[in-house]
Amino acid sequence: MVKESVKISRNGKDAMKERDSLTVIDNRTGKQYELPITNGTIRAVDLRQIKTKPEEFGIMSYDPAFMNTASTKSYITYLDGEAGILRYRGYPIEQLAEKATYLEVAYLILNGELPNKTQYEQWIFDITHHTIIHENIKNFMQNFRYDAHPMGMFIATVAALSTFYPEASKISDVGLRTIQIQRLIAKVPTIAAFSYRHSRGLPFIYPDNDLSYPGNFLNMMFRMTETHFEPNPVLEHALDVLFILHADHEQNCSTNAMRAIGSSKVDPYSAMAGAAAALYGPLHGGANEAVLRMLNQIADIKNIPAFIEKVKQGEGRLMGFGHRVYKNYDPRAAIIKKVAEQVFQVTGRNPLLDIALELERIALEDEYFISRKLYPNVDFYSGIIYQAMQLPTSFFPVMFAIPRTVGWLSQWQEMLGDEEQKIARPRQVYLGADKRDFLLMENRK
Ligand code: CMC
Repeated sequence: MVKESVKISRNGKDAMKERDSLTVIDNRTGKQYELPITNGTIRAVDLRQIKTKPEEFGIMSYDPAFMNTASTKSYITYLDGEAGILRYRGYPIEQLAEKATYLEVAYLILNGELPNKTQYEQWIFDITHHTIIHENIKNFMQNFRYDAHPMGMFIATVAALSTFYPEASKISDVGLRTIQIQRLIAKVPTIAAFSYRHSRGLPFIYPDNDLSYPGNFLNMMFRMTETHFEPNPVLEHALDVLFILHADHEQNCSTNAMRAIGSSKVDPYSAMAGAAAALYGPLHGGANEAVLRMLNQIADIKNIPAFIEKVKQGEGRLMGFGHRVYKNYDPRAAIIKKVAEQVFQVTGRNPLLDIALELERIALEDEYFISRKLYPNVDFYSGIIYQAMQLPTSFFPVMFAIPRTVGWLSQWQEMLGDEEQKIARPRQVYLGADKRDFLLMENRK
């Protein structure tokens, strides 16, 4: 029964008078509360007013894995998982993938608007003039074990950059911040390529600033004895599209890590190393690697039904399928499928594609996947392309980290400028032992 009505006001506004509000009745006390609704959300801290005794902490929302918690407002990426829509700063991903370059998109994501010609030329100049890494960083990379995982090298090297640019810790200085952002976007392809060359025992190739961003990356990866490397234009373009598709994806695991670590006000290199570590995991950016291993394990189309059956029995997952947000075909997967065809015209068809296509066909007709809204995600086809480009499987997560750098940095920058943000610090529900006295060793069982 409603005994009493409690008003929770925000910014001096009487929430009872707001039309957008949520009425909550606490059945323990019978009290009724009006919680304002803004942008389709209630504030979790508003729940704290709800208590049975004044000395109580108040109600918290319990949301493991952030299933229904918006941790920030953002102006960068719009994602409608039900409808399969992805937009950067309002521009549909399909249009950007078709008409823009990765560096144009990177500028857009960072600055909010597409660059005009002068801005674009300046931006390309800025990025291409930060591509070289300090020789000591090169030496640092040379000292990894011969079989070190490229992503491990990438993460450690990004972290090590903070020791070369100590001024990066002045994160409130916008000018210094801009330089670190340019450095990171410029240097990640170099670090990535060096990690690949190291694992192959090949000499490092320095950047060629006359080439495009993806063209230079191909140069640093694949140049052998030739004095000038000419990237294949189809592969160069395919890589640019793949970079665009991976540039940002709002509050995913690694971006959340970037924001959380960055909220302690650490420098962007250290924060980004943490974000890259989050990306490394097989449920996130490591999924493209896992997809390839899965396709190799299936090995033949005739083995697909048995494999699907195992997945349905809970023995492993169909990697590259499913997404926390997309409950529809991932729009990036649809674009990648087209890019794959272009790449295969140059590299020859990857035989794993037939297994992937058949796997997708069967899964999309199967009640298990239909009822759970499991569709191919961005990683389902990207690994097949990377393999056709001669990249080792262990290198795939690095291919994700290169373009995601701009997303992490934009989100980090947005977080720093957001007056509502503070150091990220979730609460917990403590269910452990109650207070008890210390036992001397001889008294323990
Ligand atoms: N294969 C088989 N079953 C699956 C899969 C899958 N790939 N994904 C989810 N399910 C099932 C899951 O077992 C559960 O079934 P039930 O309700 O019977 O227990 C149901 O679908 C819901 O799964 P969930 O684990 O609660 O979903 P989630 O939102 O926590 O997980 C995910 C999202 C991406 C981690 C998950 O779908 C997954 O593990 N996919 C495979 C890994 C993968 O491809 N990751 C790349 C994601 S896209 C790139 C990126 O952004 O990083």
